[in-house]
Order: sequence, then structure tokens, then C-alpha cells
Amino acid sequence: MDIIDEVLQHPYYLRQLQVLQTYEQDRCFCRHDMAHFQEVARIAKVIAGQNSLSIPQEMITLAALFHDMGRVQEYEQTISHAEASAAFAREILFALDYPSTRIEEICQAILAHSRRQDAEVRYARAFQIRTLGELISYADQFSRKCYMCSAASDCKWPKEQRILQNYYPDDL
Ligand SMILES: [Fe+2]
Ligand SMILES: [Fe+2]
Repeated sequence: MDIIDEVLQHPYYLRQLQVLQTYEQDRCFCRHDMAHFQEVARIAKVIAGQNSLSIPQEMITLAALFHDMGRVQEYEQTISHAEASAAFAREILFALDYPSTRIEEICQAILAHSRRQDAEVRYARAFQIRTLGELISYADQFSRKCYMCSAASDCKWPKEQRILQNYYPDDL
């Protein structure tokens, strides 16, 4: 069984995902579910290819699968979900004997993922991405199609950070 399957079948991962879905079942804004994690992974892999990055696909997938799992702790204790997600990833990946250097790189990427930028800046710099952290952060923001969102009028994202249609790359 590969590491992705091991994570997806890990009881602790499955339980945390279940709790997160329960917290967000009535959420009108973007949700943090498996569909979001898969979309972040998909976009990140496209962007990695466009930037000729040699980051293993497996690490991109793992960072995407874990990056918002700490939302549970954020809902319960108002701590940063990026920090909680990194701690959660570290605990599970360590228990699964994943290489420690890769765990650290994934955790650093998760810690950095929630720094959004203006959509115009992101769009212009889509071919200047070098690290796993930049990749996940970019894919996370571009996974949200603000231009077709029914909750946009109440969203807390600043207007300039929203992904409008003219900033959504054709090839994503
Ligand atoms: Fe996040
Ligand atoms: Fe996210």
C-alpha cells in the first residue's frame, strides 16, 4: 500500500475528516472537504508541471490532503489551522515511517499555505513558483472559484484576493 492510501485509510485521519465535515455541514462558504483537497492537489500538479518543478507528486498530494485538517482545532480552540494541520500531518506521517526530510518539507508548506495574495499578483506570478509551499498556497487560492460563488456577498476574503474569471487561468 502506498503512503497516500495509508493516510486515506488511517483511522485518525478518517476520524478527523468526519469531525471536520460535521463542523462544516451547514457552512455556506467554501468547505474544507475531500473535494477541496483533491482540487488543490490537481491544480498544484498542473502548476508544478508548468513551472518544471521536480517536487514528487506524492508530496504534493500529501500536502494537499493535510493542509486544512487542522480546521477542527481552529473551530474548537481558535488556533491557527495551518499550525494545527502541520502538527497533524507530522504525527500521522511520522507514525507511518515516512522520511523525516519529506515530512518537514510538507509541514513547512502547510504552515505557509494560508497566506493569500491579491489575485492579480498571483495570476501574474503563476510561472514563478519554486517551492512546495508556494505551490500549495497558490493552488489553495485558485481552487476557489469566487466568480461563481453564491456566498460572495458575505465572504470575508478581501475583494482584491478573490478569484474572478479574468484571473482564472484557462489551462487549470
Ligand atoms: Fe487553509
Ligand atoms: Fe484549503
